[in-house]
Amino acid sequence: MTHTIQPNNPEITPAPEATDVPSTSAPTASPGRAAAPIPAALKRRLPKYSDLAPLMQFKKPEFSKEARLKRASTIWELRDIAKRRTPQAPFDYTDGAAEEEITLRRARQAFLDIEFRPGILRNVSAIDLSTEILGKPSRLPVGIAPTGFTRMMQSEGEYAGSQAAEAAGIPYTLSTMGTASIEDVAAAAPNGRNWFQLYLWTDRDRSLELIERAAKAGNDTLMVTVDTAVAGARLRDVRNGMTIPPALTLKTVLDASYRPAWWFNFLTHEPLTFASLSRYTGTVADLINSMFDPTLTFEDLDWLRETWKGNLVVKGIQTVEDARKAVDHGADGVVLSNHGGRQLDRAPIPFHLLPEVKQAFSADNTNAAIMLDTGIMSGADIVAALALGADFTLIGRAYLYGLMAGGRAGVDRTLQILEKDMARTMALLGVSKISELTPDHVRLLNK
Ligand SMILES: Cc1cc2nc3c(=O)[nH]c(=O)nc-3n(C[C@H](O)[C@H](O)[C@H](O)COP(=O)(O)O)c2cc1C
Repeated sequence: MTHTIQPNNPEITPAPEATDVPSTSAPTASPGRAAAPIPAALKRRLPKYSDLAPLMQFKKPEFSKEARLKRASTIWELRDIAKRRTPQAPFDYTDGAAEEEITLRRARQAFLDIEFRPGILRNVSAIDLSTEILGKPSRLPVGIAPTGFTRMMQSEGEYAGSQAAEAAGIPYTLSTMGTASIEDVAAAAPNGRNWFQLYLWTDRDRSLELIERAAKAGNDTLMVTVDTAVAGARLRDVRNGMTIPPALTLKTVLDASYRPAWWFNFLTHEPLTFASLSRYTGTVADLINSMFDPTLTFEDLDWLRETWKGNLVVKGIQTVEDARKAVDHGADGVVLSNHGGRQLDRAPIPFHLLPEVKQAFSADNTNAAIMLDTGIMSGADIVAALALGADFTLIGRAYLYGLMAGGRAGVDRTLQILEKDMARTMALLGVSKISELTPDHVRLLNK
């Protein structure tokens, strides 16, 4: 049987209609109940100027670089600014990945598919983000990853990256394909912790020359990248007809008409030179192919271990077996990385690989450093990686978006955003220093 409510049923009084606006008319008294008085604060009145004055905060719109960068509170917002200000070819070269870009999407998604497990009622009035990596302190648990052609994205390029890292007290890695020399970066950031990334060649004289220059310039760490037997298929670059330096075509000239600042900067600064090569003109694919050596094996790593006396880090580790093998061949650290999704599409995701590598290293009793990159877009991503066992993290695009958004000041902004994110996330997790982060702070969803 169903019950219907009759409005004229004397036993049922319809409820007054719900409304957010307080009624000014006197409430209808329920039978037998006195009308409730309306509080003075709820009675309508005309606003006075003295009420409005404190609310009026019209500010003169600001168009300076500083104001533009300050308005970005996330790395994604820096990316939006970067996209508006950078010609399509260099923006896509940075933003894009290999083939269908599945690896990059999955790597970013992996950081989102977690749940943090916070501890409450801990004293988190002071958060310490400092850590130690490869025998030296770093003010933050993140460093700058090696990136090639950086002055093409924005003319301050490697100088902005290395100086921002120096100011933030974190390591900076110069790429073999960097557009500033090892010596120039050392001179630009003399108090910074500069690392050098090497593309190893079986032509040992060519490698040796670079290694010696890196040592002489004070680099304490050599990062050898091993996930580049051949170049990945960066389809956006193919579509954009990307060349180094960018060629003046009808398309690029049109592009220049609404990104004049980029072109002005590009044309009025020193032409691109490379850390390791003399001036180069050709397609990216040609240059990359000349850099990558498909004949390399672990024997070449042994040679490098004998030759280089500082910290040796192997970047591009994608399986537990290879992480172990790299350590067996003398690596002081590994970077779990798939090159930001720019090489093999559908590659393993470093964040997924991390717990297995951590477990293997603990079982082997090795204290080789575990670093991780690919997909980091916020400080919370970094905190999650540290909780699951990473000793350190690296950022590629996150700093390049800052660079393209505003040169050195933009890289500073990237690091400020990440630092703030990390400090806030740790406080909300109830953790005041990095060593207190444990796998218990992260639950992997969809597992
Ligand atoms: C534009 C660009 C250029 C890169 N160039 C190099 C390079 O020269 N050598 C290298 O080892 N890795 C290079 N990488 C890979 C980065 O070192 C790093 O592994 C990757 O960017 C991490 O992913 P993320 O961009 O999501 O942070 C490059 C990445 C980008 C985005």
